[in-house]
Amino acid sequence: MIEFQRVALRYDDKSNVLKDVSFTLNPGSFHYLTGASGAGKTSLIRLLSLMQKASAGKINMFGTSIDYNHRSELVPVRRRIGLVYQDYRLLNHLTVYENVALPLKIKKLPRGQIKEHVGELLNWVGLGDKINSYPRYLSGGEQQRVSIARAVITQPHLLLADEPTGNLDNAISEKLLKLFEQLHRMGTTIVMATHNPDIIMRFPHPQLHLDNGILETRTAREAVEKGRMGTL
Ligand SMILES: Nc1ncnc2c1ncn2[C@@H]1O[C@H](COP(=O)(O)OP(=O)(O)O)[C@@H](O)[C@H]1O
Ligand SMILES: [Mg+2]
Repeated sequence: MIEFQRVALRYDDKSNVLKDVSFTLNPGSFHYLTGASGAGKTSLIRLLSLMQKASAGKINMFGTSIDYNHRSELVPVRRRIGLVYQDYRLLNHLTVYENVALPLKIKKLPRGQIKEHVGELLNWVGLGDKINSYPRYLSGGEQQRVSIARAVITQPHLLLADEPTGNLDNAISEKLLKLFEQLHRMGTTIVMATHNPDIIMRFPHPQLHLDNGILETRTAREAVEKGRMGTL
Protein backbone atom coordinates (compact mmCIF):
# COMPACT_ATOMS: atom_id res chain seq x y z
CA MET A 1 0.00 0.00 0.00
CA ILE A 2 1.18 3.49 -0.88
CA GLU A 3 -0.26 6.48 0.87
CA PHE A 4 0.24 10.21 0.35
CA GLN A 5 -1.29 12.47 2.99
CA ARG A 6 -1.50 16.20 2.31
CA VAL A 7 1.75 16.18 0.35
CA ALA A 8 3.06 19.43 -1.11
CA LEU A 9 6.06 20.09 -3.34
CA ARG A 10 7.74 23.39 -3.98
CA TYR A 11 10.96 23.91 -5.94
CA ASP A 12 13.22 26.73 -4.70
CA ASP A 13 11.10 29.55 -3.33
CA LYS A 14 8.45 29.43 -6.03
CA SER A 15 4.80 28.56 -5.38
CA ASN A 16 3.74 24.96 -4.75
CA VAL A 17 3.84 22.71 -7.83
CA LEU A 18 1.82 20.12 -5.87
CA LYS A 19 -0.62 21.34 -3.23
CA ASP A 20 -2.19 19.18 -0.56
CA VAL A 21 -2.06 15.93 -2.56
CA SER A 22 -3.66 12.89 -0.88
CA PHE A 23 -4.28 9.44 -2.36
CA THR A 24 -3.92 5.74 -1.67
CA LEU A 25 -2.69 3.10 -4.11
CA ASN A 26 -3.76 -0.42 -3.22
CA PRO A 27 -1.34 -3.25 -3.99
CA GLY A 28 -1.83 -4.46 -7.56
CA SER A 29 -3.76 -1.38 -8.68
CA PHE A 30 -3.16 0.36 -12.03
CA HIS A 31 -3.62 4.15 -12.21
CA TYR A 32 -3.14 6.59 -15.03
CA LEU A 33 -1.59 9.92 -14.11
CA THR A 34 -2.83 12.76 -16.27
CA GLY A 35 -2.74 16.54 -16.45
CA ALA A 36 -1.59 19.24 -18.85
CA SER A 37 2.09 19.72 -19.57
CA GLY A 38 3.63 21.33 -16.48
CA ALA A 39 0.83 20.07 -14.22
CA GLY A 40 3.33 18.15 -12.06
CA LYS A 41 3.11 14.56 -13.35
CA THR A 42 6.88 14.04 -13.48
CA SER A 43 7.22 15.74 -10.09
CA LEU A 44 4.71 13.31 -8.56
CA ILE A 45 6.56 10.37 -10.12
CA ARG A 46 9.82 11.73 -8.66
CA LEU A 47 8.17 11.82 -5.22
CA LEU A 48 6.85 8.27 -5.66
CA SER A 49 10.30 7.04 -6.69
CA LEU A 50 11.88 8.85 -3.70
CA MET A 51 14.15 10.85 -5.99
CA GLN A 52 12.55 14.05 -4.72
CA LYS A 53 11.81 15.08 -1.16
CA ALA A 54 8.33 16.43 -0.41
CA SER A 55 8.10 19.94 1.05
CA ALA A 56 5.22 18.96 3.35
CA GLY A 57 2.95 16.04 4.19
CA LYS A 58 3.34 12.36 4.92
CA ILE A 59 4.29 9.52 2.56
CA ASN A 60 4.08 5.85 3.43
CA MET A 61 5.43 3.26 0.99
CA PHE A 62 4.88 -0.47 1.60
CA GLY A 63 4.56 0.11 5.35
CA THR A 64 7.61 2.37 5.66
CA SER A 65 7.05 5.98 6.65
CA ILE A 66 9.34 7.98 4.35
CA ASP A 67 11.81 10.12 6.24
CA TYR A 68 14.60 11.74 4.27
CA ASN A 69 16.58 12.20 7.48
CA HIS A 70 17.05 8.44 7.59
CA ARG A 71 18.25 7.86 4.05
CA SER A 72 19.53 4.33 4.63
CA GLU A 73 15.93 3.24 5.35
CA LEU A 74 14.93 4.42 1.89
CA VAL A 75 17.28 2.05 0.07
CA PRO A 76 15.15 -1.12 0.49
CA VAL A 77 12.04 0.87 -0.46
CA ARG A 78 13.70 2.15 -3.66
CA ARG A 79 14.67 -1.41 -4.58
CA ARG A 80 10.98 -2.26 -4.80
CA ILE A 81 10.34 0.42 -7.43
CA GLY A 82 10.91 0.16 -11.20
CA LEU A 83 11.03 3.17 -13.53
CA VAL A 84 10.31 3.63 -17.22
CA TYR A 85 10.88 6.97 -18.96
CA GLN A 86 9.55 8.53 -22.14
CA ASP A 87 13.07 8.64 -23.65
CA TYR A 88 14.00 5.04 -22.63
CA ARG A 89 17.35 6.05 -21.01
CA LEU A 90 19.22 2.92 -22.03
CA LEU A 91 22.99 2.85 -21.74
CA ASN A 92 24.14 3.11 -25.34
CA HIS A 93 27.58 1.58 -24.85
CA LEU A 94 25.99 -1.61 -23.46
CA THR A 95 24.13 -4.31 -25.39
CA VAL A 96 20.45 -5.08 -24.83
CA TYR A 97 21.52 -8.02 -22.66
CA GLU A 98 23.88 -5.90 -20.57
CA ASN A 99 21.27 -3.15 -20.09
CA VAL A 100 18.67 -5.57 -18.75
CA ALA A 101 21.23 -7.56 -16.71
CA LEU A 102 22.61 -4.49 -14.93
CA PRO A 103 20.13 -4.35 -12.01
CA LEU A 104 20.84 -8.03 -11.26
CA LYS A 105 24.61 -7.52 -11.52
CA ILE A 106 24.26 -4.75 -8.96
CA LYS A 107 22.38 -7.22 -6.73
CA LYS A 108 25.31 -9.63 -7.27
CA LEU A 109 23.21 -12.53 -8.56
CA PRO A 110 25.17 -15.51 -9.94
CA ARG A 111 25.93 -15.23 -13.69
CA GLY A 112 23.90 -18.30 -14.62
CA GLN A 113 20.79 -16.95 -12.93
CA ILE A 114 21.23 -13.55 -14.55
CA LYS A 115 21.50 -15.15 -17.97
CA GLU A 116 18.36 -17.18 -17.43
CA HIS A 117 16.28 -14.25 -16.11
CA VAL A 118 17.40 -11.85 -18.83
CA GLY A 119 16.75 -14.41 -21.57
CA GLU A 120 13.25 -15.13 -20.26
CA LEU A 121 12.36 -11.48 -19.92
CA LEU A 122 13.66 -10.51 -23.37
CA ASN A 123 11.60 -13.33 -24.87
CA TRP A 124 8.59 -12.05 -22.96
CA VAL A 125 8.94 -8.55 -24.48
CA GLY A 126 9.51 -10.15 -27.90
CA LEU A 127 13.19 -9.21 -28.25
CA GLY A 128 14.89 -12.56 -27.81
CA ASP A 129 16.59 -12.09 -31.17
CA LYS A 130 18.01 -8.64 -30.26
CA ILE A 131 19.86 -9.77 -27.16
CA ASN A 132 23.30 -8.80 -28.50
CA SER A 133 22.23 -5.63 -30.34
CA TYR A 134 23.12 -2.13 -29.22
CA PRO A 135 20.21 0.21 -28.40
CA ARG A 136 20.95 2.61 -31.28
CA TYR A 137 20.11 -0.13 -33.80
CA LEU A 138 16.64 -0.65 -32.32
CA SER A 139 13.40 1.20 -33.09
CA GLY A 140 11.82 3.41 -30.43
CA GLY A 141 9.25 0.74 -29.55
CA GLU A 142 11.98 -1.88 -29.20
CA GLN A 143 14.10 0.39 -27.01
CA GLN A 144 11.08 1.02 -24.79
CA ARG A 145 10.49 -2.73 -24.46
CA VAL A 146 14.13 -3.13 -23.36
CA SER A 147 13.62 -0.39 -20.79
CA ILE A 148 10.47 -2.15 -19.51
CA ALA A 149 12.43 -5.41 -19.21
CA ARG A 150 15.17 -3.57 -17.28
CA ALA A 151 12.59 -1.94 -14.99
CA VAL A 152 10.85 -5.19 -14.07
CA ILE A 153 13.76 -7.64 -13.90
CA THR A 154 14.04 -7.13 -10.15
CA GLN A 155 10.28 -7.84 -9.81
CA PRO A 156 9.38 -4.42 -8.39
CA HIS A 157 6.19 -4.00 -6.37
CA LEU A 158 5.62 -0.60 -7.93
CA LEU A 159 6.24 0.25 -11.59
CA LEU A 160 6.30 3.96 -12.45
CA ALA A 161 6.15 4.93 -16.11
CA ASP A 162 6.48 8.58 -17.12
CA GLU A 163 4.75 8.99 -20.50
CA PRO A 164 6.25 5.72 -21.78
CA THR A 165 4.35 5.91 -25.07
CA GLY A 166 4.94 9.64 -25.61
CA ASN A 167 7.35 9.07 -28.50
CA LEU A 168 5.58 6.07 -30.02
CA ASP A 169 2.73 5.61 -32.49
CA ASN A 170 -0.60 4.06 -31.52
CA ALA A 171 0.01 0.50 -32.71
CA ILE A 172 3.30 0.30 -30.80
CA SER A 173 1.74 1.96 -27.74
CA GLU A 174 -0.95 -0.69 -27.71
CA LYS A 175 1.70 -3.40 -27.70
CA LEU A 176 3.41 -1.80 -24.70
CA LEU A 177 0.11 -1.44 -22.84
CA LYS A 178 -0.44 -5.17 -23.24
CA LEU A 179 2.86 -5.73 -21.42
CA PHE A 180 1.76 -3.38 -18.64
CA GLU A 181 -1.58 -5.21 -18.45
CA GLN A 182 0.23 -8.53 -17.98
CA LEU A 183 2.38 -7.07 -15.20
CA HIS A 184 -0.77 -5.68 -13.61
CA ARG A 185 -2.42 -9.11 -13.73
CA MET A 186 0.67 -10.60 -12.06
CA GLY A 187 0.17 -8.18 -9.16
CA THR A 188 2.50 -5.26 -9.91
CA THR A 189 1.20 -1.87 -8.81
CA ILE A 190 1.42 0.53 -11.76
CA VAL A 191 1.30 4.30 -12.15
CA MET A 192 1.57 5.48 -15.73
CA ALA A 193 1.61 9.13 -16.79
CA THR A 194 0.00 9.65 -20.18
CA HIS A 195 -1.55 12.22 -22.49
CA ASN A 196 -3.26 9.63 -24.65
CA PRO A 197 -7.09 9.39 -24.31
CA ASP A 198 -7.19 6.47 -26.78
CA ILE A 199 -5.12 4.35 -24.40
CA ILE A 200 -7.30 5.26 -21.41
CA MET A 201 -10.43 4.30 -23.33
CA ARG A 202 -8.91 1.10 -24.70
CA PHE A 203 -7.43 -0.08 -21.37
CA PRO A 204 -9.68 1.36 -18.64
CA HIS A 205 -8.12 2.04 -15.23
CA PRO A 206 -8.65 4.62 -12.49
CA GLN A 207 -6.99 7.95 -13.00
CA LEU A 208 -5.09 10.43 -10.88
CA HIS A 209 -5.58 13.82 -12.50
CA LEU A 210 -3.49 16.90 -11.72
CA ASP A 211 -4.81 20.36 -12.32
CA ASN A 212 -3.08 23.40 -10.93
CA GLY A 213 -1.29 21.33 -8.28
CA ILE A 214 -4.53 19.73 -7.06
CA LEU A 215 -5.00 15.99 -7.46
CA GLU A 216 -8.38 14.52 -8.31
CA THR A 217 -8.99 10.75 -8.30
CA ARG A 218 -11.34 9.30 -10.92
CA THR A 219 -12.75 5.81 -11.32
CA ALA A 220 -12.04 3.83 -14.50
CA ARG A 221 -15.56 4.58 -15.72
CA GLU A 222 -15.11 8.33 -15.14
CA ALA A 223 -11.71 8.19 -16.84
CA VAL A 224 -13.20 6.57 -19.94
CA GLU A 225 -16.03 9.13 -19.99
CA LYS A 226 -13.56 12.04 -19.80
CA GLY A 227 -11.48 10.44 -22.54
CA ARG A 228 -14.56 10.18 -24.75
CA MET A 229 -15.28 13.88 -24.24
CA GLY A 230 -11.68 14.65 -25.13
CA THR A 231 -11.06 16.31 -21.77
CA LEU A 232 -8.44 14.17 -20.03
N1 LIG B 1 13.86 20.55 -10.87
C1 LIG B 1 12.99 21.57 -10.98
N2 LIG B 1 13.27 22.79 -10.50
C2 LIG B 1 12.39 23.81 -10.59
N3 LIG B 1 11.17 23.71 -11.17
C3 LIG B 1 10.83 22.52 -11.68
C4 LIG B 1 11.70 21.38 -11.62
N4 LIG B 1 11.08 20.32 -12.21
C5 LIG B 1 9.87 20.77 -12.62
N5 LIG B 1 9.70 22.08 -12.30
C6 LIG B 1 8.48 22.88 -12.55
O1 LIG B 1 7.40 22.22 -11.91
C7 LIG B 1 6.23 22.27 -12.72
C8 LIG B 1 5.72 20.86 -12.99
O2 LIG B 1 6.65 20.19 -13.82
P1 LIG B 1 6.56 18.63 -14.16
O3 LIG B 1 6.43 17.88 -12.91
O4 LIG B 1 7.69 18.31 -15.05
O5 LIG B 1 5.17 18.58 -14.97
P2 LIG B 1 4.65 17.54 -16.09
O6 LIG B 1 5.45 16.30 -15.99
O7 LIG B 1 3.19 17.34 -15.75
O8 LIG B 1 4.79 18.22 -17.41
C9 LIG B 1 6.59 23.06 -13.97
O9 LIG B 1 6.21 24.40 -13.79
C10 LIG B 1 8.10 22.92 -14.02
O10 LIG B 1 8.67 24.04 -14.66
MG1 LIG C 1 6.56 15.23 -17.38
